Amino acid sequence: MKMRKLVLGGLVVCLFAVLSGAVFAADPVVDQDRVAAGKELFTSKSCVICHAVNAVGGKVGPDLGEWESFASTSLWAAIMWNHVPNMIKEFKAKKIEFPSFKPGDIELIFEYIHAQAKNKGGTYAFPGDADRGAFLFQYLGCKQCHAIENKGGSVGPALDGMGSRFKTDGELAGHLIAHAPYMAEDAERQKLYWPRLQGNEIAHLFEYFKSLK
Ligand code: HEC
Ligand code: HEC
Repeated sequence: MKMRKLVLGGLVVCLFAVLSGAVFAADPVVDQDRVAAGKELFTSKSCVICHAVNAVGGKVGPDLGEWESFASTSLWAAIMWNHVPNMIKEFKAKKIEFPSFKPGDIELIFEYIHAQAKNKGGTYAFPGDADRGAFLFQYLGCKQCHAIENKGGSVGPALDGMGSRFKTDGELAGHLIAHAPYMAEDAERQKLYWPRLQGNEIAHLFEYFKSLK
């Protein structure tokens, strides 16, 4: 049953990948040093307490080796973002602090998981568009809590100048995921809907952020 749900999830992601005009790219060459660094982070950042990769590790969350895995940072960031409200419940129940991530950490973890996955879903490059990102920022409700150029809410920090602070999708993904638990808690307190993101949507948002100098 669980497996069926995961496979279905993978199919849905693929469908969106196709519908959103994602480009199917060649799998990048696996860099064993980066995979080893990712494995270490997977342990030191507590992921392994709840997740197995190919049956080695915790059983609270899904086995990430069973998942059809993608070598796309933005797609992984979207997948993880969508699960944050449920994940933080488990963190609280187990009294585990949500880890902080240095720029690049989260990308290494994704590379490790991808290298171990039994079912490789390939590499999708999602071409991002800054204007589309600006629209999504409003449409998805980010603006309820964040201002840009003095327009928007003040629950979260203003996001002006993101493009000067972060250069790559990997840095942005790490930063977004690191802050997501606090955002999810705020959204729950205020009874706001937690926006579910597709890989292409997060790519548009990242392109928009990179344009904010
Ligand atoms: C305290 C337990 C816990 C920890 C620690 C944890 N997770 Fe999770 N994770 C979960 C649960 C539970 C789910 C399923 C949530 C849901 O169903 O929405 C999940 C879901 C996920 C998913 C989505 C998987 C899928 O099949 O769609 C990813 C990716 C993920 N976690 C990555 C990580 C990474 C990377 C770390 C370490 C930085 C981590 N998790 C740490 C509990 C945890
Ligand atoms: C319910 C309110 C709320 C919503 C909705 C929300 N955020 Fe946030 N966001 C916050 C809060 C609060 C913080 C600060 C969290 C912290 O202290 O770690 C934050 C932090 C951030 C940061 C880090 C900011 C920095 O300066 O380092 C980014 C990036 C971000 N949010 C992006 C988004 C995006 C993209 C969306 C929409 C998909 C979104 N947020 C939706 C409340 C929200």
